[in-house]
Amino acid sequence: MRFYIQLGIGICSLFLIGTGCTNQSGPMKPPVSQQEVQKEVKEKAEKEKLPKSAPSLQSVYLNQQEKAEVEDIKKQPIVYKGSQHSKKVALTFDDGPDVELTNKILAILKKEQVPATFFVTGIMVKEYPEMLKKIYEHGHVIGNHTWSHPQLTKLSTSKLDQEMDQTNQLVEKLLGKKMRLMRPPYGATNSQVQQQLKKKGFTIVNWDVDTNDWRGYSGPKIEGIVKSQLANGSIILQHNSGNTLQGTVDALPNIIKYLKAQKYQLVTVDQLLDMPPYQEKTK
Ligand code: NI
Repeated sequence: MRFYIQLGIGICSLFLIGTGCTNQSGPMKPPVSQQEVQKEVKEKAEKEKLPKSAPSLQSVYLNQQEKAEVEDIKKQPIVYKGSQHSKKVALTFDDGPDVELTNKILAILKKEQVPATFFVTGIMVKEYPEMLKKIYEHGHVIGNHTWSHPQLTKLSTSKLDQEMDQTNQLVEKLLGKKMRLMRPPYGATNSQVQQQLKKKGFTIVNWDVDTNDWRGYSGPKIEGIVKSQLANGSIILQHNSGNTLQGTVDALPNIIKYLKAQKYQLVTVDQLLDMPPYQEKTK
């Protein structure tokens, strides 16, 4: 709510300069009253079956310039980041869910009340279905990271279909949600893979900030990478499964505090791109 009010004032100040917008009217006016915001969150919570405090239900507002830019970004074969015109960033975690690291990361995100996007593999979801549910119930968004983490450019069409479909079907069985966002293992695609994924309704999401956390980097090293590569609209790549990720856990609270101090809003990838988080359900 605080965000909307601050932004509402900011946007109207902008409009006031050029178009004479007032606080009462304007082409892009977000809800400004507490009741309106509460109503919107309640409706979204009921639709997504999430607790009303879920961080991904927070209000995210894109102005016309940002919307126009993300529409262009979504037309590209691969998304690397969101609009450069707003201070929004997305934390993303790949390769899970496991138990130990995922629990630690969820606890940090909950304490800081910020959402993230988790790109999961089918193999890990099959092993830890309760952890997938926990991520979702904490209000984070789930994306598809294939079933077994292969390099997609080396697969036949039917094998690629299988990697994506099996994972989507399992997650849909567990959550009732059909994933729309996907991240190719190693970020590797070619035009054929891109076309096939697009045909299946997926948005390919890579990143512009690569923490390389899987290399076993320390917390301070990872923080330094984020600070040096960060820009408006950044999508930050981290991992939540593997045995070299203590640095990820150590860095995360400091990264979030830094982003907040720099006035970035932390959002999920779908929010960054102004799109629904999941595909329409299979009838
Ligand atoms: Ni991966």
